[in-house]
Amino acid sequence: MTETHGPAMTEIPPAWEWRPAEVRRIGHRVTELITEHLTTLPEQPAWQAYRGEVPPADAGPVDLDQVLDEIAEQVMPYPFGNGHPRYAAWVNSPPHVLGAYADALAATLNPSVAGGDHAAVHVEREVIRVFRELAGFPEAGTGLLVSGGSMATLTAFAVARHRAAERHGLDVRRDGLAGRRFVLYLGTEGHGTARKAAELLGFGSANVRLIPSDADHRMRPDLLREQVEADLATDVIPVAVMASTGTVNTGAIDPLAEIAEICAEHELWLHVDGSYGGPAVLLLDAYADTRTALSAVDSIALDPHKWLYTPVDAGLVLLRDRQLTRDAFSLVPPYLRTEDEPWFSEFGFEQTRPFRALKVWAQLRHLGLDGYRQLIARDLAIADRLAAAVDADAALELLAHGLSVVCFRCSGATDEENRAILAELQRQGRAFLAGTTVDGRFAFRACVVNPRMSSADAEAILDAVHAARANH
Ligand SMILES: Cc1ncc(COP(=O)(O)O)c(C=O)c1O
Repeated sequence: MTETHGPAMTEIPPAWEWRPAEVRRIGHRVTELITEHLTTLPEQPAWQAYRGEVPPADAGPVDLDQVLDEIAEQVMPYPFGNGHPRYAAWVNSPPHVLGAYADALAATLNPSVAGGDHAAVHVEREVIRVFRELAGFPEAGTGLLVSGGSMATLTAFAVARHRAAERHGLDVRRDGLAGRRFVLYLGTEGHGTARKAAELLGFGSANVRLIPSDADHRMRPDLLREQVEADLATDVIPVAVMASTGTVNTGAIDPLAEIAEICAEHELWLHVDGSYGGPAVLLLDAYADTRTALSAVDSIALDPHKWLYTPVDAGLVLLRDRQLTRDAFSLVPPYLRTEDEPWFSEFGFEQTRPFRALKVWAQLRHLGLDGYRQLIARDLAIADRLAAAVDADAALELLAHGLSVVCFRCSGATDEENRAILAELQRQGRAFLAGTTVDGRFAFRACVVNPRMSSADAEAILDAVHAARANH
């Protein structure tokens, strides 16, 4: 007799037996939570420490309404802060409501976007096409949505490593680094994700060359050239340079055209970290020169979940060489590969992949590129005003301002005092700024990627800084 497990499988378990009225009722409750959260946020603190209690996940079952009550009470009142009009801290935007709903629709289909012929694959291809064209990458290029800028950069460096190894007659996929030293070049202000990637890819952080910056926090091409030429005189394998179009710390844009020249001369891969500043560079006339220089780069990281205001997660990587990317990742032997419908999973690390593209596509379709241009230009204008107000205030000192980042501190106060003032500002909840270090000095860092912020909110942020100083 065949052994059976549990009850007979003749009926659908009740939890999946959805009646339309019940689906609607639950949906209305969720919609209420979303509406309440998004519309009352401006009156709430920008941030407050978590004072709820997460009910034990393993103490159920409980009915759906109780779960929603618990979410309403224990989750929704304690956000990260980035939906608030007076949040200007890390590079996190408020979500667009369409993006939030699109995520629910994507989860309703719940596909794996590894590949195949279903809607999600076609939507992702369409999203990639838009950014490929904006960046001036060829049709023969490729791209995919990933979890964020970190995964985008890791993906690009994996392909760069493959190319560098091949040029040295090595099969890095089979043999690893084979005792050779692979080297990456990064500006001192470049994002730490490059270092993490170098560690994961086996280069080791000791083989990340940090190229000093100029007074405006931009990578110095003359020092990059010196370092690359010194390395080429040894037996290390220079792999790639990562330049930034918008450093996280001060919003600096590296001199891309000059860096691209050095990379072309020495056959180095050029990866651009546009995780934060990419959308401004791709869309605004003010950055046309940097955009033109993208024609010489090998890969770009761009994050829709930063300055395109989509819900987390949505990162994007563009790669100029489709074949090489496939060679770096695909486990399908070349003789079995078809060109008809190659799977996304052959171009990156993830196998089961979420339907990230729906929210990106929906917001693009709704806002249009011009809508995005206006929103990003508005963020930049508010950051400019904030920087001007800081500059005009004798009690404050402006330390750096690039793109929509403004770094400043209270004048006449030590690093320690400024740190304490920031902690007090965050505790008071009237505004939320992050902290950083600029040229070795502690700074408050405001990054405006926030269409909910008005000029009045920017002024209120400075009032909140003064109040925190008075109270710390
Ligand atoms: C310039 C820059 N690069 C890379 C990253 C990493 O991106 P993610 O956090 O989406 O992985 C960030 C995150 O803030 C960033 O600002």
